[in-house]
Amino acid sequence: MHDAPAGSAWSPETLAVAAGRPPRTPDAPVNAPVELTSTFVASTEPGARGYARFANPTWEALEEVLAFLEDARSTEGSPDGGGARAFASGMAAVSAVIEQVPVGGLVIAPESAYNTTLGLLDHLEANGRLRQRRVPPADTAAVVAALSDTSPGDLLWLESPTNPMLEVADLPALCAAAREAGVRVAVDNTFATPLVQQPLALGADVVVHSVTKYLAGHSDVVMGAVVTRDPGILAAITKHRTVVGAIPGPFEAWLALRGVRTLHLRVERSQASAAELARRLAGHPAVKRVRHPSLPSDPGHARAAAQMRGFGSVLSIEVHGGAAGAQAVQEATRLWLPATSLGGVESLIERRRRHPLEPVVVPEDLLRLSVGIEDVEDLWTDLSQALDAVSAAPASEHRGQQG
Ligand SMILES: Cc1ncc(COP(=O)(O)O)c(C=O)c1O
Repeated sequence: MHDAPAGSAWSPETLAVAAGRPPRTPDAPVNAPVELTSTFVASTEPGARGYARFANPTWEALEEVLAFLEDARSTEGSPDGGGARAFASGMAAVSAVIEQVPVGGLVIAPESAYNTTLGLLDHLEANGRLRQRRVPPADTAAVVAALSDTSPGDLLWLESPTNPMLEVADLPALCAAAREAGVRVAVDNTFATPLVQQPLALGADVVVHSVTKYLAGHSDVVMGAVVTRDPGILAAITKHRTVVGAIPGPFEAWLALRGVRTLHLRVERSQASAAELARRLAGHPAVKRVRHPSLPSDPGHARAAAQMRGFGSVLSIEVHGGAAGAQAVQEATRLWLPATSLGGVESLIERRRRHPLEPVVVPEDLLRLSVGIEDVEDLWTDLSQALDAVSAAPASEHRGQQG
């Protein structure tokens, strides 16, 4: 249904706008419509959709754009091509990839990453479904060492930068080492977005997104996606989606596609603001540490500069005053909304250890900041007044809230 844009040499910024549109025929709509149907008239044509748990044209429009953005499309269109598959949530996409590991297989995963991904691995391990090995993701030698004792079908799971510690894994080195060991690599690219980092081009086998975040971009959709160049993986992921049924609604896919059209503008603005705020926060007396790879002093700076186009729009700070101090900062903001999630147009702030599943390596006083597209001066004014107010308050005022 959707024409692949003639020039796939177009930049990702252009593809975010131009791909996934109906064929260019006179009087055709320029946007893919929301196709609300649970079934399709029977057809013997190859590739017929048949039923709406198997396929939906609105998903396909979004999937086409995501496949281009992640550079998975080089061979799509041929029976052997790669591509993207939309899921009901980021976690449904994460789970589809992890379910490809055989029973008793090993997943090597970061000791700190998105808490529910790690929670899923713990759950599957507790049920005897798989084994895990946790590694510090920025320590390349430690991850490579963990790859030494693996079997075919095992998986290296990476997230870079990590949520919420902003650690940067050496993707080219780790993907090469995993390939040598015969282990597949999946990268959760939610934080970077495909405009900032393309893990498949760096050697990964599979990319996962929480589309909920930057891709949809307006905090009004929950969706996920899996992207791969490997036709075997794509077929297995498609089959998994069909049999498990973790499918998105067509309206959600349409909203996500509408969000993707402005991804480049939003990311350009928010990551520039994030770098500016990181620089200013590093000089604020209430802040103990800023985590953002844009800072030359950040341990991930050189690596991020080598493998990313920018440094992303999430940063974390550790503040004086412990958990209570961090909680007080998030309550003292007026523009920054205290809420979980990230990647929307509005800026959010959150103390991550309030979640019981959050890894204990995440400091109690860590606040994660998802920088939106507001005026950076307004963001700074609001954040710095919250930090000033809390650093001026005597420590005893925070004590009651410690938890
Ligand atoms: C890095 C990362 N991966 C995956 C997910 C899960 O996505 P969803 O909430 O869409 O299921 C999240 C959600 O916060 C995330 O931050």
